[in-house]
Amino acid sequence: MSESTQPHQQANNLWSSRMAFILAAAGSAVGLGNIWKFPYITGENGGGAFVLIYLACIFLIGVPVLIAETMIGRRGGQSPVATMRTLTKTEGTARGWRAIGWNGVIASFLVLSFYAVIGGWALVYIGKAATGLFTGADAEAIGGQFGGLLANPWELLLWHSVFMAIVVFIVGRGIRSGLEKAVNMLMPLLFLLLIAMVIYAMNSGSFGRAVSFMFSPDFSKLTTAGVLTALGHAAFTLSIGIGVLMAYGSYLPKTVNIARTAMTIAVVDTSVALLAGLAIFPLVFANGLEPGAGPGLIFVTLPLAFGQMSGGALFGTIFFALLLVAAITSAISMLEPVVEWLEEHKGVSRAKSALGGGLAIWVIGIGTVLSFNVWDSVHPLGFIPFFEGKTVFDLLDFLVSNLMMPLGGLAIALFAGWAMKREGLPADIGLQGGSYTAFMFVLRYLTPAGIAVVFLYNLV
Ligand code: PHE
Repeated sequence: MSESTQPHQQANNLWSSRMAFILAAAGSAVGLGNIWKFPYITGENGGGAFVLIYLACIFLIGVPVLIAETMIGRRGGQSPVATMRTLTKTEGTARGWRAIGWNGVIASFLVLSFYAVIGGWALVYIGKAATGLFTGADAEAIGGQFGGLLANPWELLLWHSVFMAIVVFIVGRGIRSGLEKAVNMLMPLLFLLLIAMVIYAMNSGSFGRAVSFMFSPDFSKLTTAGVLTALGHAAFTLSIGIGVLMAYGSYLPKTVNIARTAMTIAVVDTSVALLAGLAIFPLVFANGLEPGAGPGLIFVTLPLAFGQMSGGALFGTIFFALLLVAAITSAISMLEPVVEWLEEHKGVSRAKSALGGGLAIWVIGIGTVLSFNVWDSVHPLGFIPFFEGKTVFDLLDFLVSNLMMPLGGLAIALFAGWAMKREGLPADIGLQGGSYTAFMFVLRYLTPAGIAVVFLYNLV
């Protein structure tokens, strides 16, 4: 394939190093999913056994799609839509596979519209922690603070806007001077903050209990629903199936070994999730809180612990800063497919694409802002039994996390495993001989079967 059909594969445009790509892709993977969701679903599903299944899903289902999606992106070297259009031609496949590209651009557009609202919560909570609002507050007061935030559309809108502005600014500056610079600074910061939290938690007295909760599997606590939650979360946390890795992969130098790189990204992502658990559960146990408290775990339960402990204002601030950093590096990756599409298909400059795309996403995000208050009883597709009782936010989350991401991942596994030509694949993926054969077996059979099971389950 000639260079001109792969516009992103120009030397001045590429990630400057393998490390730069790893930081950006790991930055995308490590997000609210790791720090907010992983701890609470682990808590709800009884700990160790759930963690074990989650790890298996990451490596058997997540990593193969991560590899395939990055490889497809690099081969196409364009926006997800154009990449899929080119590949269906060069690989001689059915045109229908192009839906993968569209699915990616639309899903990343939609996911950012609500992710940015939650990102705004992190901004608010940094302020709350830093100004000592949790100090000495009881459960009711802290619950009231969270409820008060959700009930106030203007406050939500303000922080949603600030969060989106940060994201647009970074993405608008381009791959090297925007995304790379940002992740070069933010990812090490994230690790430092996380280590600080874990060290604090180690001294809190309940560290041992947290370790055994997370790592000694008790299979009697694991339900079928728990297994499927683990599977679904493995896809979400690795950012697969949504065009993001395809977009990032389009700037990946040809010399980089994708299989090895993907493994590194998965290991980083998993380590952050586990460390987040090790930072949070000791505090939960030390303060007699409930690990299975659900989605409010870090916004309602944890502030209670920060309010009781010495240095809690400082550690609370650190914790929510950590959450913010993780959310930003994920959010910039969500804007990337949209921006690439605007650049290539509408011929708009990068800065303007980021601004225009960001603005459109911000507008859609207002739907999510309102669904926590003014529109909390508005159920747009409520007349369809399936969507009954779902607010705008619930609907978007369901659409993206339960439909578009798994279907995208499934299609990518099938496209790379069955539809693409075999020649050149081992070199492109970076595997040879037995490990290539084993990989292809997993990609062709195990991965699609696994995703199909979760997908069908989520529908029922
Ligand atoms: N992986 C991110 C997280 O864990 C979420 C994400 C989904 C990012 C889809 C990009 C694309 O929070």
